[in-house]
Amino acid sequence: MRLAEDLQVKGKRVLVRSDLNVPLENGRITDDGRIRASLPLIRSLAEQGAMVIVAAHLGRPKGEPDPKYSLAPVGRRLEELLGRPVRLARDVVGPDARSSVADLREGGVVLLENVRFEAAETSKDDAERGAFADKLAALADVYVDDAFGAVHRKHASVYDIAQRLEHAAGPLVAAEVEVLHRLEVDTDRPYVVVLGGSKVSDKIQVIEALLPKVDALLVGGGMCFTFLKAQGHDVGSSLLEAEMLEQCVTLLESGKIVLPVDVVAAAAFSADAEHAVVDADKIPEDRMGLDIGPRSVELFTEALQGARTVFWNGPMGVFELAPYAEGTRGVAEAVASLKGALTVVGGGDSAAAVRALGIGEDRFTHISTGGGASLEHLEGKTLPGLQVLEA
Ligand code: 3PG
Repeated sequence: MRLAEDLQVKGKRVLVRSDLNVPLENGRITDDGRIRASLPLIRSLAEQGAMVIVAAHLGRPKGEPDPKYSLAPVGRRLEELLGRPVRLARDVVGPDARSSVADLREGGVVLLENVRFEAAETSKDDAERGAFADKLAALADVYVDDAFGAVHRKHASVYDIAQRLEHAAGPLVAAEVEVLHRLEVDTDRPYVVVLGGSKVSDKIQVIEALLPKVDALLVGGGMCFTFLKAQGHDVGSSLLEAEMLEQCVTLLESGKIVLPVDVVAAAAFSADAEHAVVDADKIPEDRMGLDIGPRSVELFTEALQGARTVFWNGPMGVFELAPYAEGTRGVAEAVASLKGALTVVGGGDSAAAVRALGIGEDRFTHISTGGGASLEHLEGKTLPGLQVLEA
C-alpha cells in the first residue's frame, strides 16, 4: 500500500475518508475516540499545505438527509481538537460541497455532510455507486483512506473512489493493518482471545476462524448465555439465540472456550433493577444476566496470565450501567496489566468501555478504531477498502 506520507500534497485537494462514526446521545458525542484517532492525518495534510476535504459517515441514515445523523456535532468537535476552522458543507457532492471546496485555501479543511445521505454511497449497484464516486472524485486531486472502521464496506467513498483518484492509505489504516497482521502471522503464544458483546450470531465466523489459532477463548457479554444454555444450563430471561445452540455445542467441543462461572443477574434491564451475583448455572427463571461476576473475572484473569498475545473484542456486560460495569472493568484491568504481551482491543464498544471506565488507553498495545473491520480481517476476509488501496 502506498502511504499518505509519501504523497506530495502541497496545493492539492486531498479527499480524506475518515471514520468519524462516534456514539451520540441527544446530539452529544459520548466517545470522541474515532475523531481523535483521525486527527494526525488531517493535521499533517493541512500543515503540509493541502486543501483537505473530509468525507465520513455517521450512523445508518436511509440514503437521504436526516438531521439526526448530521455531522454538525462531529465537525464542531473536529474543529476544537484540530485547532483550525472546519467548514461543514450542507451536502455531500451538491452545490454547497462544491462551493466550500472551491473556497478552500492551502491548509483549509472542509467536512462534507454525512456521505450516507446519498443512497448511492451504500448501493449494491456498481454503476450507481460509481456515478456517485465520480462526483466525489471531481472534488479532489488525491484520495487518502484513513477510515479503518469502514474498510470492510464496499461503499463509494471507501471502494469506488480509490479506483478514480491517485490514492494512499492513511496512518491509521496502516497502523491497524500492521497490528492485525501481528495477530495473524507468527503470533506469539499463548494467544488468548476475549470475546463479549451481545450476539453469538455476530461473532460466529470470527470464533470459527480463531479457535484453531488460539490457546483459549474467553466468552462473556450477552453471548455467553447461549453458550451456557448449550451446556444445558438454565439462563433465566437472559439474552438467548436459540437458533445458535447447535453451533455453540460444536464450538464447545474444541475444549478451548472458557465461560463465566457466575453472573450479575437482574430483575430488569435497568440500573435500578434488583440484582445479585448468582452461579452461572443457576440463573433464576425471572432474572437476566447483565454482567459476568467476580469469580468469572478471577477465572478470566487467571486464564490471561502468561499470555503473550491477547485480542479483546466486546464488553463483558452492560458497562454503560454502573451495576453491570465491573466485569468489563475487571477483564480490561487484567489485559492492561499483562507485562510484555501484545494486547489489542478490538474497536467499537470495548474501545469505548476502556475510555469510559478510565482504564488508560496507553496500557494496551493498540486500541483499534474498527469493530466489524477488525473482526472481518481476523476472519481472513478480503476487505474491499484495503483491496483497492493495494491496487
Ligand atoms: C463502525 O461503526 O463499525 C464503522 O463506522 C462502520 O459503520 P457501519 O457498521 O454502519 O458500516
